[in-house]
Amino acid sequence: MNKKIGILTSGGDCPGLNAIIRAAVKCASQKGWEVYGIPYGTDGFLRLKRGKCHSDDLILKEHGYDLPGFLHGIDILQFLSGSILGSLSKGNSDDMAIAQTIIQGYRDLQLDALIAVGGDGSLDIIYDLAQQGQWNIIAIPKTIDNDVPFTDRSIGFDTAVDKVTSALYDLTFTAASHDRTMIVQVMGRNAGHLALRSGIAGGADIILIPELTPKIDATLVNDICIRIAKLRREGRKFALIVVAEGVKNEAGQKEKYISDYLARQIDTTSHKLCLTGKPEFCDLARIETRGTVLGHVQRSGTPSSYDRLLAASFAKKAVDLIAEENYNQLVVWQNGEVQSCSLDIVVTHIKEAHRLGKCPSPVNPNSFLVQTARSLGIYLS
Ligand code: F6P
Repeated sequence: MNKKIGILTSGGDCPGLNAIIRAAVKCASQKGWEVYGIPYGTDGFLRLKRGKCHSDDLILKEHGYDLPGFLHGIDILQFLSGSILGSLSKGNSDDMAIAQTIIQGYRDLQLDALIAVGGDGSLDIIYDLAQQGQWNIIAIPKTIDNDVPFTDRSIGFDTAVDKVTSALYDLTFTAASHDRTMIVQVMGRNAGHLALRSGIAGGADIILIPELTPKIDATLVNDICIRIAKLRREGRKFALIVVAEGVKNEAGQKEKYISDYLARQIDTTSHKLCLTGKPEFCDLARIETRGTVLGHVQRSGTPSSYDRLLAASFAKKAVDLIAEENYNQLVVWQNGEVQSCSLDIVVTHIKEAHRLGKCPSPVNPNSFLVQTARSLGIYLS
């Protein structure tokens, strides 16, 4: 049966969103289905109702993004980061009237199903709208934080790990030239997956993630200074510290620049240790720190081949589930395979985590990766 489906991207962008859109359009076109690209997440339905866009302009064609001239035939979508549909980080479905308009916008389009690409926050919001509006949805997980539960991988994470790893490599040489301690702040909101993986791959000496280091207190800073002093005694004059943005200050509050906060604490504590006159701390007199906040570059750049493969597989699975009319599912990557999981289970878990102010899928402190980092001599508290 011919179907009319929608696709939207919601929440913070990440590399691989366009690769999902491209693959979904290809898989759906092969079945003779029509695909509508909903602009700016669920806000697109509102825009339709308010006459800010027209449904005919939303139809996505399989070869709609070919380049002109001698570049004709190059399908650039899978290489481009961002989202051609646009995305919104803030939901507005708390307002009942707006939620009803969004729901009506979906109905007006007469969609058979909707593919919603989102992270934990978006899935929570879209699920509620879908329940109220009786939408047929299939969700695909995306976020560089990799903290969507029930999936080992979310789109965008692998590329972000590569980005941070590459930045650590670059920072190594300037750190070494100046005998500096570089403190690199990476994204992840409340999750340490990105910091942990890139820290290991990028040769960090110290990795601080919220799951193991909820806050930076005096004991921790002391330990870090002792670690740096040890490195110096061994002849290593520079150090690399990766700190996840979810790590909090001594008072347990989030800092915009936790890397700078940590740099100040190291400056003060290393000076104090040095003043004790103990020979093991004498090298700390010359410690120089610099903070680097990688910011939104982590969310951009050409998606890695892994993310592109994941995007293609997730999109195919989403289209297959729609063909089977097996709705209300999250496409997931589990045990090296694409599978699906009931959104009821996933969103119940997400809502509970949000209610408790916790990360829905944190780093397991006993995981093999944490043990690997420690075995490599990396300091994790
Ligand atoms: O959830 C993805 C993420 O990139 C987090 O890592 C980060 O804390 C947040 O989004 C940044 O959001 P915004 O783009 O709204 O600044």
